Amino acid sequence: MKEIYIFSGIEQITDFVINKWTDLSEKAINEKGVFSVALSGGKTPEMLYQKLTEKTELPWNKTHIFMVDERFVPYESSESNFRMISQSLLRHVTIPAKNIHFISTTDDTPQTSALKYENDLISYFKKTNKNSPGFDLILLGIGSDGHTASLFPSSSSLKVTRHLVMAVSPADKTGEKRITLTLPVINKTKDIYFLVTGEGKADTIKKVLENKNSVLPAAMVKPDNGNLFFLLDNSAASMLSARR
Ligand code: 6PG
Repeated sequence: MKEIYIFSGIEQITDFVINKWTDLSEKAINEKGVFSVALSGGKTPEMLYQKLTEKTELPWNKTHIFMVDERFVPYESSESNFRMISQSLLRHVTIPAKNIHFISTTDDTPQTSALKYENDLISYFKKTNKNSPGFDLILLGIGSDGHTASLFPSSSSLKVTRHLVMAVSPADKTGEKRITLTLPVINKTKDIYFLVTGEGKADTIKKVLENKNSVLPAAMVKPDNGNLFFLLDNSAASMLSARR
């Protein structure tokens, strides 16, 4: 199932996701005792992470937080996704340290960090999902070049089938190396939410949603057996031919 929702702004998107998060966590915990969610970096989800801290009634002790991607930079760097997620959310909720699955960036190489994170995922899925990979929820963003997670257009990482995690270089090759979830594990997620705001994304959203043959990474997110939601503000949706 793929659904597109258009909101007046990020506040409304935030409230929508918090309601879904609440329902999905309850459902997952009733079924298997734990709830797993993978979070993106970027600017768009920051308000959501901040507002989630007010939800003290959420079952944080049974919630496992994973990361969608990370730059290979120290935690202190303003580029660190884990730092942003910690500062806006994790530090302010009562969540056991063992439930926080971050991507280490203190290893010698991004490849070593990717392998470590992949092993963490494998052992979590083995314990909770009878060995089948798949988060309950993933929150993704889209870059204006159509990237999602750290999967960049034309990157060989888009073809990876045997790994859940990869070390990659950004499209322009000049930025920091990154570690990212791959399409196979993203597509195994039960509920995938793209959060996209701003006029600067309107053309990309049009290409992702209206070009059936799009090879943009965000268009390659197609859940194997789950739900896909595009949560857009009016500006990001402004170039769609059929406004829903
Ligand atoms: C990151 C993510 C990236 C992000 C998009 C959208 O930056 O850490 O890898 O995929 O979600 O670039 O970013 P914005 O939310 O800042 O537009």
